Amino acid sequence: MQVRQPINKGARRSAREYVVCRQEDLPPGRMVIAPVGKFGVGVYNVHGILYAINNYCPHMGGPLCSGNVYGTNLWDDVRGRAEHVLDGRIARCPWHAWEIDVATGVSVADARKRTRTYDVRVENGEVVLTR
Ligand code: FES
Repeated sequence: MQVRQPINKGARRSAREYVVCRQEDLPPGRMVIAPVGKFGVGVYNVHGILYAINNYCPHMGGPLCSGNVYGTNLWDDVRGRAEHVLDGRIARCPWHAWEIDVATGVSVADARKRTRTYDVRVENGEVVLTR
């Protein structure tokens, strides 16, 4: 289960770049919401890889990133049973529990529905988001 953090104040670096936080403030399994854009952007550290998605659910516009993060269960035809996969990569919207893959922004249940993703990287020990 993901431990949520309050909205991060961060700092604008340029018109397109935003410093979210120091790298050590976003360890694996954590996320912060950067005040970027109209709804904010959730920046996730999933097993050491950073991802960023719009804090806007593609279902009805709920605050997607304020929900917890889990894995999901998908049917495995070969094994003939459901398997738990994508652990730590699935944000579950707190309004109606839609599941969104933070790596792609795509809904688990309906690949036609998605939220925007952003480039995010570490530079000189800072987590930098590009919009
Ligand atoms: S608004 Fe997110 S699941 Fe409905």
